[in-house]
Amino acid sequence: MGLGRARGPHPGAGGGLTGRAVAAGLLLALVVGTAFAVLLSSISDLRRSQLRQQRSAEVLTMANRLERLIIDMETGQRGFALTGQEQFLQPWQAAIAAYPGQIATLERLVADAPQQHALARRIATAGASYIHHYSIPLVEAARRDPATARSVQAAAEGKRRMDGMRADFDALVAAQQSLARAEQRSSDQAARRASAAGLGGLIVSLALIATYSAYLTRAIAAPVRRVAATARRLAAGDLAARVPSHGAGEIGLLQRSFNTMAATLARQRTELAASRSRIVTSADQARRRIERDLHDGIQQRLVSLVLDIRTAQSTLPADRPQVAEQLDRLADGLVEAVDELREISRGIHPAILSEAGLGPALKALARRSPIPAELEVEVPRRLPEPVEVAAYYVVSEALANTAKHAQATHVSVRAHARDGVLHLQVRDDGVGGASAEEGSGLVGLADRVEALEGTLTVLSPPGQGTTLLAALPYAGR
Ligand SMILES: Nc1ncnc2c1ncn2[C@@H]1O[C@H](COP(=O)(O)OP(=O)(O)OP(=O)(O)O)[C@@H](O)[C@H]1O
Ligand SMILES: [Mg+2]
Repeated sequence: MGLGRARGPHPGAGGGLTGRAVAAGLLLALVVGTAFAVLLSSISDLRRSQLRQQRSAEVLTMANRLERLIIDMETGQRGFALTGQEQFLQPWQAAIAAYPGQIATLERLVADAPQQHALARRIATAGASYIHHYSIPLVEAARRDPATARSVQAAAEGKRRMDGMRADFDALVAAQQSLARAEQRSSDQAARRASAAGLGGLIVSLALIATYSAYLTRAIAAPVRRVAATARRLAAGDLAARVPSHGAGEIGLLQRSFNTMAATLARQRTELAASRSRIVTSADQARRRIERDLHDGIQQRLVSLVLDIRTAQSTLPADRPQVAEQLDRLADGLVEAVDELREISRGIHPAILSEAGLGPALKALARRSPIPAELEVEVPRRLPEPVEVAAYYVVSEALANTAKHAQATHVSVRAHARDGVLHLQVRDDGVGGASAEEGSGLVGLADRVEALEGTLTVLSPPGQGTTLLAALPYAGR
């Protein structure tokens, strides 16, 4: 007989724990992946925005420098035209020399902003025109004719050109500042998006992990703990212990298999007890039959032989005293044989038990015990026969063991029937140390008692006597 196959979903099927673990893992990966994607894209936006802000700052610095160059030119050429002193021409020359390189740098910096680039180009053209068509001719004229140069200098031409270029610079700077502000806003947005994605991903991931942990505890840890606790009860002999079997996937399979195993164990124990009981009962019946055969057959025959001998003796002539003596011995021998036979048949099956009940049978045992025995019986009514027979053999074997092994001075026997259970106790004050491993008596008793679903306990610490306890349930038999 094997364990039944537990039915239920295949462990790998959709409801299985593996499937749920994979689904939870995928969900977590999706959440974390999305959060990271948003985070990375926001960081890259932030980086681009920072680069553009840096470019804006460079454009503003460059525009500032170019404006100062123009002012240097204008100051130099005016100073020279007014005073004729060459030293005014040094910053003027330096500004003219630096101007082409710096305006080229400005144009490169704004190359990707069409409006700004157009303004830069206009400033470049106006600046070149200012240098070549106004400033250089003015300085040359001042060298040649200082007075005319002073009047040219005083004319509105220079101021008009300067104002034009200043207006272009202002427009470029204003546009660049507005671009920088827009960049700042977009970088703030990207930073906020990154924070929100990071925080949101973290919160959702933590919530998912916490939910999944709670689920694992509820769906796996708790049921496994319950199965372990129930397995302990099962190991301790409580074969009625079962676990709830509505767990998910593999856990459900484990619970159902566990319950099937427990049910199989319980069934096998019941079957075993029933078969033990059948064996003990049939052995008892066989013993009783033998006892009857001995009593009704050989014993009666021997008794009638004794009577025959007595009859023969009474008819014997008086002059045959030797024959009479022989017949006497024969009759005595036959009476002894009848007594021995009675003793043997009592050991095979106690007739007194069936005839008079447990109390008188135990009294007979106590009377025959070579160690002084004290008896206390509280069994108000006849008990089922298998229980009475088992109780009789328990007390009989315990008293025989006391006589054989205990070196005791006293033994007490108690039998109490209470709440459907017959409790027996045989206690001696002997040497102790009884063990069921050395003979067959105690093992046979255990078999007999357990066949009735009872228990047998031997307490026998060395030097402290031996107590044999038996509990035999009789209710419902
Ligand atoms: N009351 C007792 N006091 C001391 N020792 C005991 C007592 N009862 C049993 N024993 C010890 O335990 C052993 C086992 O007892 P058990 O009744 O199983 O076997 P046995 O009496 O030796 O043989 P059997 O009962 O088969 O004739 C005995 O051999 C004996 O050593
Ligand atoms: Mg024995």
